[in-house]
Amino acid sequence: MVSNRDIDHAAAVLRAGGLVAFPTETVYGLGADAGNSAAVRKIFEVKGRPSTHPVIVHLADAVQLANWAREIPDDARRLARKFWPGPLTVILKRAGKVSDVVTGGQDTVALRVPAHPVAQQLLARFGGGIAAPSANCHGRVSATTADHVRREFGAAVECILDGGEAGIGIESTIIDLSGAGAVLLRPGWITADEIEATLGASLGAPAADAPRAPGTLAAHYAPRTPLVLLEGDLAVELAASLARQGKRVAVLALSAQQPLLPGLEWSAAPRDAAGYAHALYAGLRRLDEAGCDTILVERPPQAPEWAAINDRLARAAAGTFAPDDT
Ligand code: TXA
Ligand code: MG
Repeated sequence: MVSNRDIDHAAAVLRAGGLVAFPTETVYGLGADAGNSAAVRKIFEVKGRPSTHPVIVHLADAVQLANWAREIPDDARRLARKFWPGPLTVILKRAGKVSDVVTGGQDTVALRVPAHPVAQQLLARFGGGIAAPSANCHGRVSATTADHVRREFGAAVECILDGGEAGIGIESTIIDLSGAGAVLLRPGWITADEIEATLGASLGAPAADAPRAPGTLAAHYAPRTPLVLLEGDLAVELAASLARQGKRVAVLALSAQQPLLPGLEWSAAPRDAAGYAHALYAGLRRLDEAGCDTILVERPPQAPEWAAINDRLARAAAGTFAPDDT
């Protein structure tokens, strides 16, 4: 449980230029005072994140948008009214004062009002914007518990607010509103259909020359053990054949039934998209730590509510074979 004193302490750490890991409804964030470039630089150091990759600024409410964006299009107001506080990030043209460290030198800034009560309390107490990427080493699986954050960073993060398991479990939907039309940069729990219904317009795809963002690289969100995505029966067949060769195989199954073979690290994932997303990163971490040669993941359905999950799994699979190319 997080007490008022914990929140006071965390806000003081932020004011002093320190790092605070905090829960959001999507995943844990690794936060710093977004108005303090030296503090934000520490996030990049601790994560091992390339300095050209921008971070999201978290705000207490949509009123604060005007402090960070120089233009607030009607579409941004519509999305904010409908989805904030919540798992949605919008990209807008940045206000003059926003540091290059936050934006990775781009002319735009990513903004989000999170719904988690601990994040809300921290933002309200701190007063300013909190720059926070997901609280994991660059390119790796995001953290959905305080314990994940502790194991990821050890003593490098002086304050970790433990708000229990992150409810949604995968990162926010990112919509770029800095250009002529709205563009989906990263699928998330809020689906493209819901965004389009709110805007009354279709979403575009990112331009080929758009600045690359780490969460949108082909390789990201990756465990250290090679991860392969397969249809259910193929996952079972391959698992069985590798196990017979004496390999240690981890399986994240959805509907596939466990074959009666020794040496398999079998994990049955929830069959609904919400349950699956909630459990995904903790499950990948657990399977990664099992010390297997391979993680086989049964490919989820292609339905819209699985889009963000399929996106993360594809990048995780790519990431284990071609670790982040930046
Ligand atoms: O759910 C979330 O969004 C979590 C929680 C902590 O809020 N945060 C998160 O941050 O996932 P991060 O840094 O892991 O992913 C943010 C993504 C990155 O792919 C980053 O490059 C992109 O947002 N991004 C940030 N600023 C951007 C900008 N100005 N233009 C384009 N992409 C941007
Ligand atoms: Mg991330």
